[in-house]
Amino acid sequence: MRKICVIGTGYVGLVSGTGLADFGNHVICCDIDQSKIDLLKKGEIPIYEPGLKELVDRNVKAKRLTFSSDIDTSVRDAEVIFIAVGTPMGDNGEADLRAVEAVAKTIAKNLNSYKIICTKSTVPVGTGARLQEIVESEKESDAEFDIVSNPEFLREGSAVKDFLLPDRVVLGVNSKRAEEVMKDVYRPLFINETPMVVTNVPSSEMIKYASNAFLAVKISFINEVANLADKVGADVHTVARAMGLDGRISSKFLHPGPGYGGSCFPKDTEALVYTGEQHDVQFQVVQAAINANKTQRNVILDKATELLPEMEGKTVAVLGLAFKANTDDVRDTPALEIIQGLNEAGANVKAYDPIAAENMKKFFLPELTTCKSVIETVEGADLVIILTEWNELRGLGLKDLKPHLNAPNIVDARNILSVDQLKEFGYNYRNVGRSNV
Ligand code: UDX
Repeated sequence: MRKICVIGTGYVGLVSGTGLADFGNHVICCDIDQSKIDLLKKGEIPIYEPGLKELVDRNVKAKRLTFSSDIDTSVRDAEVIFIAVGTPMGDNGEADLRAVEAVAKTIAKNLNSYKIICTKSTVPVGTGARLQEIVESEKESDAEFDIVSNPEFLREGSAVKDFLLPDRVVLGVNSKRAEEVMKDVYRPLFINETPMVVTNVPSSEMIKYASNAFLAVKISFINEVANLADKVGADVHTVARAMGLDGRISSKFLHPGPGYGGSCFPKDTEALVYTGEQHDVQFQVVQAAINANKTQRNVILDKATELLPEMEGKTVAVLGLAFKANTDDVRDTPALEIIQGLNEAGANVKAYDPIAAENMKKFFLPELTTCKSVIETVEGADLVIILTEWNELRGLGLKDLKPHLNAPNIVDARNILSVDQLKEFGYNYRNVGRSNV
């Protein structure tokens, strides 16, 4: 059991901090945003993440998890400090490390004993060395410290499960001492033989970027296969299934759609390309995946135009705004460009999302007409576009839905509707890689 301070209570910091408490450590989660800390102290969770509230409640009750905005004191009392603050993308694709570096300076000023300073946030390769320099130069005592890289592999919507039951734990360390402390932090996983990859800091930082970038490449690849499948009468689902039966490929992340979004893939792919450029290494494959991902939004818009060539004054119902199901996150969601494209074509857009509608209006489209139910959204629509694979949309009753529409046109950008039923009930439809099945 170790005394841990996690700085940053976003979905990475809050999930990681709570998970570390659940492993038996004493954890204090800090944030400079007092309102977030106040909410957490009242037992309210500022982010939507299935299972997180129960996990927080359980560990607060067990007195293993507390919250504070007093970062100085929390750092002084901790043995291991996790940096879990945002690393947003700068204009040229470079990761913005200002928050990370500011936190490193705060830690340096409160280095009153040996501490491990661990980056949990996704940080470019080489950041660990940078933090070593900052803390070395800013510290006000001769206390020793170690920099550790411990990247997260949390998917939004399943972050709690991903933390408690990870495929692997990656530890980038510079000393045996740091390795032993970190293994103690993750003792329950260590005991149940979760694969632990112990390596140096740059390799650990690279593992995170290489993993995310590869997943993004996989998604853009299957999207391009789907786009050709539509032209040649192939069924991308069968193609993906048969591909996935090859153990070297695996069937995961071969679901075509409107392109990837979220707070990670778009940012991490650009950051990896940028890091490569800094070292005269061209990440042409990742760059191609980025380009293909941008194009995929237009592929969905083209499908909409095929079904509804004249959009001026017509009503288009958009079902799903979150960048993926089971999250309220709309960062880099395909829905944004697609709705903007519909508006430019003169369509009247009505939108629905079970939980992300308010965020979409708050952060991007304040004028967006949002509805409280699917039926309200599709009432009188000349075209329906499904953009997020919410389970309630998978279960759409196509027979009952049709009378509400002004015209039976559906673009299923997530391939969640039954092609047989779309045909049986007389819909004009497009999906992604199965339109001529
Ligand atoms: C991702 C990584 O999976 C996770 O390991 C990392 O820590 C953070 O980034 P996240 O962005 O939360 O997690 O969601 P993920 O489930 O990976 O999906 C990312 C995007 O890819 C979403 O827009 C999703 O809709 C899309 N996607 C995913 C596809 O289009 N097809 C797929 O087969 C899988």
